[in-house]
Amino acid sequence: MNLEAMDAKLTEVQGAVLVLLAFEAEKGSSDLHSSALEEADRVSGGLVRELYRTGEFKGKPMEAILLHRVYGLRTPRLLLVGCGTRDKVTPSLLGRASGTAVRALKQKSLMDATLYLDSLLASEANVAEISSGAIAGDFEVHDLKTVDKDDKIFALFRVALDGGAALLQGAMRKGRILGEAQNFARDLANMPGNLLPPRELVEKSKELARQTAVQVDILYRSRMEELGMGAILAVAQGSEEPPFMVHMVYEPDNVTSALHLGLIGKAVTFDSGGISIKPSDGMEKMKYDMSGGATVLGAMRAISALRPNMRISAFVPIVENMPSGKAMRPGDILKSLSGKTIEVLNTDAEGRLILADAITYAKQQGCTHLVDAATLTGAIAVALGYEHVGLFCNNKGFQAQIAEAANAAGERFWPMPLDDEYKEYLKSDFADIANIGGRWGGACTAAKFLEEFAGDTPWAHLDIAGTAWLETAKPYMPKGPTGVGVKTFVELAVRMASSAHSV
Ligand code: BES
Ligand code: MN
Ligand code: ZN
Repeated sequence: MNLEAMDAKLTEVQGAVLVLLAFEAEKGSSDLHSSALEEADRVSGGLVRELYRTGEFKGKPMEAILLHRVYGLRTPRLLLVGCGTRDKVTPSLLGRASGTAVRALKQKSLMDATLYLDSLLASEANVAEISSGAIAGDFEVHDLKTVDKDDKIFALFRVALDGGAALLQGAMRKGRILGEAQNFARDLANMPGNLLPPRELVEKSKELARQTAVQVDILYRSRMEELGMGAILAVAQGSEEPPFMVHMVYEPDNVTSALHLGLIGKAVTFDSGGISIKPSDGMEKMKYDMSGGATVLGAMRAISALRPNMRISAFVPIVENMPSGKAMRPGDILKSLSGKTIEVLNTDAEGRLILADAITYAKQQGCTHLVDAATLTGAIAVALGYEHVGLFCNNKGFQAQIAEAANAAGERFWPMPLDDEYKEYLKSDFADIANIGGRWGGACTAAKFLEEFAGDTPWAHLDIAGTAWLETAKPYMPKGPTGVGVKTFVELAVRMASSAHSV
């Protein structure tokens, strides 16, 4: 999608469609809460107010109505997109509205539009979100259907302002980088296990490094053996596909922060469960068990373009979890990179095993702060449904920083507990720790397991098992991978780099 900012008056906008953001009107009030809508109402001889009056359009969030031949406009069509109550509007809501506009128009094969932004809404944060939202809304899952398909990519999305467009170019660029990074992660997450086995995900990582200013070091099985990464090696041993650890380093010339952020992403290219095999019903979904890794790669892509002044490393442990004659068994005891021994009570709790070694390795590489993203437990979806990412953190200040970054990025994170009592659930008779904690509190015990390896290093864990895949399409997002976490990771990196404040 091409994205452009331009200066224009409302009545000068040309092209196929003019898009206006509209708000809910209070009962009995004729205030449209937007000078742009006011103007559209005026030139059209009262059309907008008429729609509100008849109740045909209410301005509810993501409500959309397409009108033709509106008098006084140069475009043949006008699309109104609802944004709810004016004083509750946030940048990310506007982003979802622009995504809604893109998707609503694509359905009608209308592939170019100009969103005219009311001057009161023309802030950097709003323009960034409107831009990233349009690009994220343009995403289509890449399928392998062989029937002829139309080109389904939106051609041109303009944001028009009555003056000052040049000042918002930077915000638009940021939005484009974020939206494209999110879509990059979604493309990876959508790829099936046969087309994206560990070695192919490694190729994608190398390709990303080649295209950006990021260094990459790939740890192969032999190196993992030398280092003693017994946990990730054990998960991989049932598969024909060897394991990898992708280690990326982003190091700007002008490092001004003593902090070194480590982003860690679970990448199980397919999770059958191993010997503790999953039921076949729904097992195909386990192709997206590498979404955390995809999120980290997407974030690094954006980070290398936005260039925050801080060292940022990425660690993506990549494996396939399969049953076979060589597979790890329930009862096996592993020696992790940290030296801690782990009793495997369920081979389907594999994500925490590969993350344990990745977390230890990230600490060895000098990271001062760690965040991991992982489709770790079905239990997080039991707790939070598909709505919120579960946020676990061992450091109050860092947790607050992440929550703020998520909020700014428009991603919903919910704080989850890490009380010491959960540690008792993980007691093993034969090793330092067991890899599962029994029936209850599964998301919390999984996080507690990871915390053992993070130790005192400020660390947060995002359980994205409920949010990485959208089951039913939203007006601004198709069914499929969501790329959740990319925007928050980038926002966090930018904020940490620019604040002297350290936690
Ligand atoms: N990859 C799964 C978690 C998952 C479930 C992701 C649903 C996305 C959607 C993870 O490896 C897993 O199998 N977790 C087990 C843990 C259990 C064995 C303690 C689970 O959640 O059932
Ligand atoms: Mn599993
Ligand atoms: Zn898994």
